[in-house]
Amino acid sequence: MEAIHVHGGVSLQGSVRIHGSKNAALPILAATILTKDESIISNCPRISDVYQMLQLLNALGCKVCWEGNGIRVDAGNVTQSKMPTEAITGMRSSLFLMGALLGRNREVVMEYPGGCVIGKRPIDLHLKALEQMGAVFEEKEGRICGKAPEGLHGAEIYWNISSVGATENIILAAVTAQGKTKIHGAAREPEVEHLCRYLLACGGDIEGVGTDCLCISGGKALRGTHYTVPADRIVAGTYVLACLAAGGCVLLEEAPAQQMTSVLELASSMGAEYQKAANGLYVQAPERLQGVRELITLPYPDFPTDLQSVALTAMTGADGECLIEETIFENRFRVVEPLREMGADIRQLDAARVIVRGPTRLEGREVEAVELRGGAALVVAGLIAEGETVVRGCRYIDRGYENICRDLRELGARIYSV
Ligand code: EPZ
Repeated sequence: MEAIHVHGGVSLQGSVRIHGSKNAALPILAATILTKDESIISNCPRISDVYQMLQLLNALGCKVCWEGNGIRVDAGNVTQSKMPTEAITGMRSSLFLMGALLGRNREVVMEYPGGCVIGKRPIDLHLKALEQMGAVFEEKEGRICGKAPEGLHGAEIYWNISSVGATENIILAAVTAQGKTKIHGAAREPEVEHLCRYLLACGGDIEGVGTDCLCISGGKALRGTHYTVPADRIVAGTYVLACLAAGGCVLLEEAPAQQMTSVLELASSMGAEYQKAANGLYVQAPERLQGVRELITLPYPDFPTDLQSVALTAMTGADGECLIEETIFENRFRVVEPLREMGADIRQLDAARVIVRGPTRLEGREVEAVELRGGAALVVAGLIAEGETVVRGCRYIDRGYENICRDLRELGARIYSV
């Protein structure tokens, strides 16, 4: 799929099922190598980041196969600790295998996962914490080589930055380490909680699940288990905001509404009505979008950085001015330029803040996605723009959405991909 064509001006109606969460599935798939038993991870999304993770697990010696929307992983024979470069390029979640391989094989060799357009994406928190647990790292020909010859041991870790990936990486290392590891300042994102629940089901010993202070008692043999990945709260949030932007009334089946409080609070402030139901989340857009004065991205449970670009797009149709502040990543306003080309009134105050003024009418244009969530935001812009919008660079969108065209078509959008 190289380009998405959207004909705007159609409000959304109907229902769509929200697929499994990318950011929950990836660390859990990495965790499957911590036991020699088989695990079955159900409700995995069919997205390119999951395909890349399976390629990595395969290269390490795992047997992996899809069974419906589940993946069976047999990690009985993880003999490799060197990750193939082609599988890592551009995919940060290979990082989760660092902690898992140090735990399983006491060594790891991998490329630096590298930054991306939204930020430098450093890994200092990961490396320092693993060094506290007994790992030693050196750089050889641009690759990170880590060893823990005596095996990993517990440590007391203090963070003043909330890092989802670092928290997940250290949890994976700590369940195999000898002794207790305490993480003060752990990320509280739901995906961290689901990783903990998978490991508890495998026989792991983790206290403080869901809080910012985790205590992991390592060294226990882990068994395989069957775990179901939750629906993707960012995909569901994307479609809540798409409904606000385009108008209409939708049912988002299986949407994890209890993990979407900050998004639903924003929707309410903009005049939407919603109802949590047994089978999902109903959202009714208002006739006219009310503006909000300010929106700040913060770690969970506050407003997620991954929905900032889509919220910015929806704000172009709301009354008044809104100051949007991005506090998590240093370069997450790449969508501003194409939105301006479509007619949006957005002033960038500095790297972290923009002011969007509405309502403005957007005109369909040919635009380019350069990263995952900005790409989704351009598709949403196409839903509200007059005429046809063509979004190129869809490979970025495929990393996190199984099929955004299929989903939005089910909600009545006039959208197709070529
Ligand atoms: C995870 O990325 C998600 N990815 C991101 O989703 C999400 O935006 C991000 O968490 C924040 O919620 C996955 O779960 C696969 P971080 P991660 O470490 O773990 C700084 C998407 O669209 N930091 O929580 O890489 C970092 O620079 C993706 O699905 C350090 O300084 O993010 C950032 O400013 C995009 N040193 C902040 O922490 C480190 O060692 C939060 O990043 C690590 C991070």
